[in-house]
Amino acid sequence: MRVALGLQLLTLIHILLSCESLPFTKMEYAILNTWDSNSVDHDPIRIVFSDGKAGLKMEVFGPFFNDPAAPPGEPGLTFPGLWNYEVVESFFLDSRTENYLEVELCPHGQHLILLLSGVGNAFLQQLPMMFTTTITGDMWKGEALIPWTYFPPNVNKMNSYTIHGSGEARTYEALYPIPKEDIVEGQKPNFHRLEYFQNFSLQNIMGEDWVQPESDLWKGKA
Ligand SMILES: *[C@@H]1O[C@H](CO)[C@@H](O)[C@H](O)[C@H]1NC(C)=O
Repeated sequence: MRVALGLQLLTLIHILLSCESLPFTKMEYAILNTWDSNSVDHDPIRIVFSDGKAGLKMEVFGPFFNDPAAPPGEPGLTFPGLWNYEVVESFFLDSRTENYLEVELCPHGQHLILLLSGVGNAFLQQLPMMFTTTITGDMWKGEALIPWTYFPPNVNKMNSYTIHGSGEARTYEALYPIPKEDIVEGQKPNFHRLEYFQNFSLQNIMGEDWVQPESDLWKGKA
């Protein structure tokens, strides 16, 4: 009896330990703050990153504000200036080179990709991507597959944001907001404050041994 129980326990411990080294780990985040470190006044937007084989799967879940109205573009296609609409954005940064990828997703199905080298300096944009959304009442979910080639080499930081509302009620929210003590009078939201990004590793999702595929898109941007 005792031996059998001991063996079962050992098996269980073994399974638990091997889980740690399994790839296919999901990383889940909730956007709880406005860009300037106030709490959001609604259920948070949640973002889940996982292995999408051909790229990073990015899933978004959260409230659908339906404000502003949908951009005048086809769902599933890129839409320039998407940041002027209702949008969820993730930025993936190599902090040593200031190379970064910006991914913008709209609940109405449009998306926008920007590849940047240096703060705010986009050298490629409107790349294609698989992206679908479902709106159910006042909630929505979206699923994007971000090709590996869009990521700069050596991503080590990330931040994510969401924007909704119009005019005075336009609301800018951040996963890693600017701390209150850093905010100066009259400061406006700016999602390209790279110094507030926090540690992020694709290897935490894909496994320690995973090697990011090389990308011609980033050649010469080191
Ligand atoms: C972020 O990563 C750096 C480099 O690996 C490490 O030195 C630092 O402790 C990490 N910071 C946090 C908050 O985990």
